[in-house]
Amino acid sequence: MSFDALCWRSGRLHILDQRRLPAEEVWIEASTWQDVAVAISDMALRGAPLIGIAAAYGMALAQQSGDGLGIASKGLGATRPTAVNLFAALERVSQANDMLAEARAIEEDERSNNDAIAAAGASLITDRTSVVTICNTGSLATAGVGTALGIIRRAFQLGKIERIFACETRPRLQGLRLTAWELQQDGIPFQVIPDGAVAPLLAGGEVGFAIAGADRIAANGDTANKIGTLNLATIGDAFQVPLVIAAPTTTIDTRSSTGADITIEERAAEEITTIDGVRVAPEGCPVWNPAFDITPSDLISAIVTENGVHRPPYAFEDQV
Ligand code: MRU
Repeated sequence: MSFDALCWRSGRLHILDQRRLPAEEVWIEASTWQDVAVAISDMALRGAPLIGIAAAYGMALAQQSGDGLGIASKGLGATRPTAVNLFAALERVSQANDMLAEARAIEEDERSNNDAIAAAGASLITDRTSVVTICNTGSLATAGVGTALGIIRRAFQLGKIERIFACETRPRLQGLRLTAWELQQDGIPFQVIPDGAVAPLLAGGEVGFAIAGADRIAANGDTANKIGTLNLATIGDAFQVPLVIAAPTTTIDTRSSTGADITIEERAAEEITTIDGVRVAPEGCPVWNPAFDITPSDLISAIVTENGVHRPPYAFEDQV
């Protein structure tokens, strides 16, 4: 029920190119930290924990080639601003003598974090029900079973899942392309919905929980995650569908007191104005394309980390 989205072999980082999925499985061979930086910023790999793991391996490549480590760390840190796992991993690996060993340790830690998150999160689901999720939070987004998708996998094994509703997740379609691919491989019953169908879905009463991942969680529990998560939260609040956030503690940023301190990445207009490279919007069409939104903590019924289930009011400290 899990697979690897990257692997270190023969002194190189091999990265499954998620932009090509599900049509084809193409692996990129990264031999420099710059290759890794490009893979992260162009979203060949994505998902907060996986971005952190890849950046750590990027530092290992820099060390192996004798490149300036400060420059490499700065370059890797400039790729995507919201996922705090990136900065946590860079900080951790920079304190190590053997960066490759540290990158491997970070990967293993995320793998076991996910097992703990899956077990704790699945225990929240008491009666068999359907769950809605957004983006991709599975093996393609981290190491191991995933965060929100790890909970879904575990709950399914325990017979608690009726059906998963996966938001297609415009504009990069992580739900349609990646989550659907992972759910299909595991034989978990699911339907993809257009993002705009969240309201009628939750109004229908079939869904017991919304479960999502996170890119950065502030000390007060405010959570940055894929654009559309705030829709799940507010619509869920209107129809009594609780939102559960699943993330390792590496996603908690105690330097951000509230969501207002979190930088939200804005991506290129072409992600909206084109489909498969073909322009569908009028020439010069103005676009606002935030990649993430911030859900206020009072709309989050639980935050599940490897340390267990946290309930509001949230007050995360350095050792959570
Ligand atoms: O832009 P992406 O695909 O990197 O965004 C990913 C998400 O928003 C995920 O929900 C989050 O990183 C958690 S992945 C376990």
